[in-house]
Amino acid sequence: MTETLKPRTLPPGIHEPNGRPNERMPVPPLEPLDSILPSEPLLLMGAGPVPIPHAVARANGVVINHLGATMEHVIRNLKEMAGYAFQTKSDKIMGVAGPASAAMEMAITNLLWRGRKCLCLKTGTFSNRLGEMAVAVGADVTFVEPETGRPVTAEMVERALARGRYDVVTIAQGETSCGVLNGDLPQIAALARSHGALMVVDAVVTLSTMPLEMDAWGLDAVVTGGQKGLSSIPGVSLIAFSERAWDVIRNRREPMPHWCLDAIRAQRFWGDHQYHYTAPVPGILALYEALRLVCEEGLTTRHERHRVSSQSLQAGLEAMGLSLFVPLAYRLNSVIAIRIPGDVSAPNVLSYMSRKFRVEISGAFGLDVVRIGQMGEQCRSHNLFKVLYATGMSFGHFGVKLDVSKGLAELERTLTREHEFE
Ligand SMILES: Cc1ncc(COP(=O)(O)O)c(C=O)c1O
Repeated sequence: MTETLKPRTLPPGIHEPNGRPNERMPVPPLEPLDSILPSEPLLLMGAGPVPIPHAVARANGVVINHLGATMEHVIRNLKEMAGYAFQTKSDKIMGVAGPASAAMEMAITNLLWRGRKCLCLKTGTFSNRLGEMAVAVGADVTFVEPETGRPVTAEMVERALARGRYDVVTIAQGETSCGVLNGDLPQIAALARSHGALMVVDAVVTLSTMPLEMDAWGLDAVVTGGQKGLSSIPGVSLIAFSERAWDVIRNRREPMPHWCLDAIRAQRFWGDHQYHYTAPVPGILALYEALRLVCEEGLTTRHERHRVSSQSLQAGLEAMGLSLFVPLAYRLNSVIAIRIPGDVSAPNVLSYMSRKFRVEISGAFGLDVVRIGQMGEQCRSHNLFKVLYATGMSFGHFGVKLDVSKGLAELERTLTREHEFE
């Protein structure tokens, strides 16, 4: 039963009626979580986190010992399933207790240190974050930065690699902040390899939503978060290192600035089932179920579901009269950036949409766009109709002239054309 405690009015140290002597701090006002959370959950259609399947939610409610035979069994299977998702035979696959940024930091901090050189391919907030992390560990960082809303091309990278020698090249396959796809990633990775540099890839929104082939493309560190394409919970992330990257990590002589993110220490748990730190058990179990569902669906089918879903939604948004920020040729399907029409206030539209339609989408980092996510469970037809209607009606409420019916009809038409979509 919930205990209801009122804020104390008696001075500290005075006996309370409920018998708590000598407490200096008063009990704060208490609110049960149920009184804070919405009675009906909002539909999460932003740039992440995304809705999670029931199997993932159930696993997230379980705590078992983080060491021992049962966990060993879980980790063995989880690594095999993650290997499939990353398309790698490497056994240096690890979970990270932390956001995707922690997995990014793990890649950077293990592969770069003072005196090492990094080429950071910057298309927005998240790819820039890799560069910031590289600067923080003392690496010498050069940025290649196309104009906002455009990808880094293989030609740009070729020119940069011809001008200097680098130990590491970093990129975000999908730059969520503005909705750009770096589609030249396979060619860029080949260039990095031919120049002797390791390729670090942020696949936070792209893993399992579109093709990524770690081994075939020669990627050396690939990171992802739980709360995006995998449709798991936030706070437990994944990283995979190639053998080439592992050789660099093994032969490192510099001290590691991060204890928790030290890959050699982490491998004690993920490789040898020994203690590193107390693993985030429920998050790992949730990730297990999320990866199992990815494997059950199969990557080809899953990528196709994401493509059809996102492109149908894009068609609906445009038919309704909205304009998309990134040209089709390099538009990311996983997160769609929509130009804010006229001088409408995005925060007002988003807040109206949550209140009125129980649907949430995202704002942006300094750009005049709002963003709709197309990752994992977001790519289901019932969610598409709901978010399209809510978006159109909410902009309409603030005076933007849109043809919502035309948008919905176009969504229905494109989805029906791709009849295998569920
Ligand atoms: C492409 C990309 N990289 C990295 C991140 C950082 O993820 P987290 O917030 O879990 O650290 C995000 C989050 O939106 C992202 O979209």
